[in-house]
Amino acid sequence: MNKNRSRFLIFCGIFIVILYSCKHKPQIKELKNKQTLNVPLLLSHAQKQLSLQAAEALKNKRIPRTLTKNGEIHWTNPKFDWTEGFFPGSLWYLYRYSDDKKWMELADSFQTHFETHKLNTTNHDLGFVFNCSYGNGYELTKKDKYKQVLITAANSLVSRFDEKTGCIKSWDTHLGWQAKRGWEYPVIIDNMMNLELLFKVSELTNDPKYKKIAIAHADTTLKNHFRSDYSSYHVIDYDPETGKVRKRQTAQGFSDESAWARGQAWGLYGYTVCFRYTKDKKYLNQANKIANFIIDNAKKTNSYIPYWDYNVNNIHAPKDVSAATITVSALIELDGYTNNSYKEFIDHFLIDLSSEKNLAKVGTNKNFLLKHSVGSIPHDNEIDVPLNYADYYYIEALWRYNQKYTKS
Ligand code: GLY
Repeated sequence: MNKNRSRFLIFCGIFIVILYSCKHKPQIKELKNKQTLNVPLLLSHAQKQLSLQAAEALKNKRIPRTLTKNGEIHWTNPKFDWTEGFFPGSLWYLYRYSDDKKWMELADSFQTHFETHKLNTTNHDLGFVFNCSYGNGYELTKKDKYKQVLITAANSLVSRFDEKTGCIKSWDTHLGWQAKRGWEYPVIIDNMMNLELLFKVSELTNDPKYKKIAIAHADTTLKNHFRSDYSSYHVIDYDPETGKVRKRQTAQGFSDESAWARGQAWGLYGYTVCFRYTKDKKYLNQANKIANFIIDNAKKTNSYIPYWDYNVNNIHAPKDVSAATITVSALIELDGYTNNSYKEFIDHFLIDLSSEKNLAKVGTNKNFLLKHSVGSIPHDNEIDVPLNYADYYYIEALWRYNQKYTKS
């Protein structure tokens, strides 16, 4: 090759490289922007969207839960709904963040819709319902009225505890779809989320009875609900006569032996709360192990929004944003308790959740914050929809993040 020809080829090569890098610069910039997490901005976005949602809810005098298959707002069941506490809970978090009394007044007015449900003893969901609403409200206002509601709800919840099984029964078995499963004393991993109410009420009353029951439930669940990889079964059915395990099954997961995504998140959050109230290292260890299970799966699939079940990896399967919101909120708390640092993963979770794909623009999505959650695929219910609890744990996570990492 003569000298001129090789000079010409080098020149062409340099020219192509320069052209290529100019063309790709904007994309690189875009990617960097996407990875910036501006939590105060996200909280301000949440306030705008929930202002619109609250206005619609006030007009209808109902609490929003999700969307129907036709895209209309599906309101909570006024007789009882395990999700009814989340919307007022989100409003409490916005009050906590902004100090704007409008949020307090809204939260108070929506939670009175279901105050009488504190007397319900037909399922375990009282912790979800009352801790997220009246529990947050009490922390912020110290109103005695809220405290009394929490105590009554906790009394209803502990009426479902049985010494022989060592846990709180999740579902009654004589009615509805649960009656068809042949269970006698079903306990679901979700039930770990009801324990916070009991820990709190023991502190409020100076009566250790509630905390003792919460600890018994957490210990029984730790013994029977988990596999060797720290994933959990969804449903454990106990023999009420002997207290022994009858069956290990699922209700909302892909199969009895699979790891239903939201169930793993409930377990992580539940054991993190158990450590907060007891300082018992076995709960901290359990929470860390569950966190590792979830994070390993996120790394494997290169996504922080899991499929609705970790044993489903068909790329067309629905993802469950709600599982990611519960996980990230729990991880932010756990990050302070352990030598492991979860901060890098926390950022990844929040960046994925806050991407255009998952976070709705103001005024869209019928004013829910997040898209793409799953209620229950086996029941063909709430598939790829917004859910009020996905929004609640997302706002809680943003608030926790802001307290811990953003504020100086
Ligand atoms: N039972 C609460 C849930 O569906 O996660």
